[in-house]
Amino acid sequence: MSTAGVRDRTLPTWFFHNPLRRWFKKPGRLIDFCPPRSGDVVADLGAGGGFFLAELSRRVGSAGRIYAVDIDDGALSLAQRVATTLEVTDRVEFIHSSAASVPSIPSGGVDYILSNGLLCCLIDKERAMEEMWRILKPGGRALVTFVTIGPRFTARGRALRTSERRFRELLSRRSWEVIPGKAKPFSRRFILRKFG
Ligand SMILES: C[S@@+](CC[C@H](N)C(=O)[O-])C[C@H]1O[C@@H](n2cnc3c(N)ncnc32)[C@H](O)[C@@H]1O
Repeated sequence: MSTAGVRDRTLPTWFFHNPLRRWFKKPGRLIDFCPPRSGDVVADLGAGGGFFLAELSRRVGSAGRIYAVDIDDGALSLAQRVATTLEVTDRVEFIHSSAASVPSIPSGGVDYILSNGLLCCLIDKERAMEEMWRILKPGGRALVTFVTIGPRFTARGRALRTSERRFRELLSRRSWEVIPGKAKPFSRRFILRKFG
């Protein structure tokens, strides 16, 4: 499948923090499924407007560190404002970059990855999964969620689409330990552990 010229998906900033989302989705509930530990170095890949920053920064504490990575300037500015309000800017580094290539995060430099809704917004899923593998420490964990539905009628739609089958195919390239989570009708949730 050719993906030349096909763009990743970004979202309007109102999507990230709005009363309806807060009502339906409690950030702590997802993080509880696989929480980072105190002092952990965390990479929030496709961090958006920082919806999970409060939970992540509370759990890693002042000894921890968070890389918030996104390709969208508007989303990152919002995340920066959230961090300022939470008074946690000292433990968050904002990286304007594709999650498919984050050279500023050292190899094996991360204990925990959150990737909530990134894979279904990103074209180069292979490289993004390789980056996850590279930046995680051996034994490090990743909490990955993605939406499985989307339009198939355009090249972009097909490239963005992330079925469970496609995701498992990506996983098979490395020796991930996979703990499947809840499979909802239109989304999936997994905990991955880097073997080693
Ligand atoms: C569905 S949103 C989820 C945002 C955030 N994780 C949350 O749950 O609020 C997906 C995010 O991925 C970002 N994104 C899309 N392609 C990306 C890429 N190649 N690298 C990093 N972020 C990307 C978008 O800008 C958007 O902020």
